[in-house]
Amino acid sequence: MHQTSREMTEVLVQNQKLYQPSRAILKTARVKDYQGMLKKARRNPVKFWAEAANDIHWFKKWDKVFDDSHKPFYQWFAGAKTNLAYNALDRHIGTPVANKTAIFWEDESGRSRRYSYLELYHEVNQLVNGLKKLGVKKGDRVAVYLPNIPETAIALLACAKLGAIHSVVYAGYSAKALEERIKDAKAKILVTADGSFRRGKVVDLKSIADRAVKNCPRVKKVVVVKNNGQKIKFNRRRDIWYHELIKNQPVEAKCAVMSAEDPAFVLYTSGTTSKPKGVIHVHGGYAVQVLRTIKWVFDLRGNEVFWCTADPGWITGHSYIIYGPLMAGITTLMYEGVPDVPRPDRIWRLVEKYKVNVLYTAPTLIRLMMKYGNAWPQKHQMKSLRILGSVGEPINPAAWKWFHKYVGKNRCPIMDTWWQTETGAQMITPLPCAPLKAGSTGKPFPGIVADVVDKKGKPVPYGKGGYLVIKNQWPSMIRTIFNNPERYVKTYWQKIKAVYFTGDVAFKDKDGYYWIQGRTDDVLKIAGHRLGTAEIESAFAHHPAVVEAAVIGLPDPVKGESIKAFVVLKQGIKPSDKLQEELRHTVRQTIGPVAVIGAIAFTDKLPKTRSGKIMRRVLKAKELGLPLGDTSALI
Ligand code: WT7
Repeated sequence: MHQTSREMTEVLVQNQKLYQPSRAILKTARVKDYQGMLKKARRNPVKFWAEAANDIHWFKKWDKVFDDSHKPFYQWFAGAKTNLAYNALDRHIGTPVANKTAIFWEDESGRSRRYSYLELYHEVNQLVNGLKKLGVKKGDRVAVYLPNIPETAIALLACAKLGAIHSVVYAGYSAKALEERIKDAKAKILVTADGSFRRGKVVDLKSIADRAVKNCPRVKKVVVVKNNGQKIKFNRRRDIWYHELIKNQPVEAKCAVMSAEDPAFVLYTSGTTSKPKGVIHVHGGYAVQVLRTIKWVFDLRGNEVFWCTADPGWITGHSYIIYGPLMAGITTLMYEGVPDVPRPDRIWRLVEKYKVNVLYTAPTLIRLMMKYGNAWPQKHQMKSLRILGSVGEPINPAAWKWFHKYVGKNRCPIMDTWWQTETGAQMITPLPCAPLKAGSTGKPFPGIVADVVDKKGKPVPYGKGGYLVIKNQWPSMIRTIFNNPERYVKTYWQKIKAVYFTGDVAFKDKDGYYWIQGRTDDVLKIAGHRLGTAEIESAFAHHPAVVEAAVIGLPDPVKGESIKAFVVLKQGIKPSDKLQEELRHTVRQTIGPVAVIGAIAFTDKLPKTRSGKIMRRVLKAKELGLPLGDTSALI
């Protein structure tokens, strides 16, 4: 948790300044009457979403907007027919959008490419035809292990267009993690690349993919994008180059007519156990809410350029690098690289070069930029910027103010958007017309009913911390956990009666603004990346010297949280620097470079409850020098 409760109380007392929208922002805003819109949607959220649904294309309209007869397996737009990729691409063809830039791409070394909507459409169709030739059919799972390149968007769109279910695995995950996800999804194809560069160093994606697929007999073909041109091992029977696969394929392809409730993709995310959850999103409702939020929260239109700095491997990338911007018919920027190469002004240079209108990023990046100093953003012309966005973890007021002043030049409102892999799209966020508070995510988006409650589901008073819950249902909500509907029910709908359990703690202030404090103790947010404590602990246990381990997140000035691990060693094994290195290596091998371990402490035993659950809360309180709280349940 980046902000402790103590800091939050200070925020409440001292930081109630309202940042009012400027006249320029109000002039173009799609929604101008904030309170009026909230009120209207609140009266009938289902009607609100039914109206929003008119923004997407339906082959056939729905019989019922919202169906709760099999709750918590809710349905939206049941009976309707549509296709997510059709909405992102096909519907623009034959309109003026077709010649607009769909994607700008640039990598760390400065290579760049551009796709118009028409070019993108043609290549997606070629890949649809290519994948069909490989035997991919409606409902099949296709795993995607790619960096932030146009082919990632193309692979996703091609899958959705033919009705296959894509499963993107972030390229910072290890071979083991990739293997586990491929197996769980029972994918039959993997799309990957030769490699990528990170800080000038080669990331050897193909060899990682090879190690993963070795143990996945179901994977019949591996499609390889030539990205950085490095030498790779090529298995002639199994591997096929992407460019060979699409070569000579027709540039037109049939779009699968999907039911609104057909799965469009699965995306794995961390939870309380070491096994990741395959979150399922569908064609209809997902499209509706992603489009409505990107239009209203970022007010994008015309020839505008949108840059979401996330990676397509996370939900933010799915919804706001790929599907959202393309459905809105604007230009999306993809940057395959880190923000401070070759110098700490890379981000600002890109904003200037591509005339980015809306920049959507994460607190960890903002804090890193802040550390480099005010001079870097000031070197660049960023007049094109109109709106800023933040997502992934709480943004502390100091970072918010810095972003507002040095990047937004006090004229760009910041949309601090709270949502999750499971919610599919933004849920609690200001709109450009709303008054803002530095460090608050504002109020729920129209059509969303949230609250902060105690364990029993009773609303807590303003200013008091509690569990953040969603009290209604929404179109882009998770439909189930792949292959594990019981876990879906248990994780989200049974922790607190009759509401969706987010796993976050938050409070509301007297104006109804939400202040998110972080996760309850089993999920960590490291530089905005979501990692389960159980996942990391079981990775430690892979090392033969380890009996058990407990990990906690400690406040980190840049990453939000950093991992501290407490490790119990087998009898007779002595702690050493070498062992520390080995442990870090084991975790890296098991989960991937995304799981960076900060400090490691060796200990004789871990604090546990009578039932044997590790009390991470106690470890954390000790580390932070806070009162231990109620430890009566400890042995
Ligand atoms: C968790 C979801 C969905 C976007 C990327 C992360 C935290 C997300 C905010 C925000 C405070 C935030 C929450 C949430 N979170 N956005 N604006 N302010 N916290 O998706 O990996 O599924 O993580 O990220 O803790 O539950 P995710």
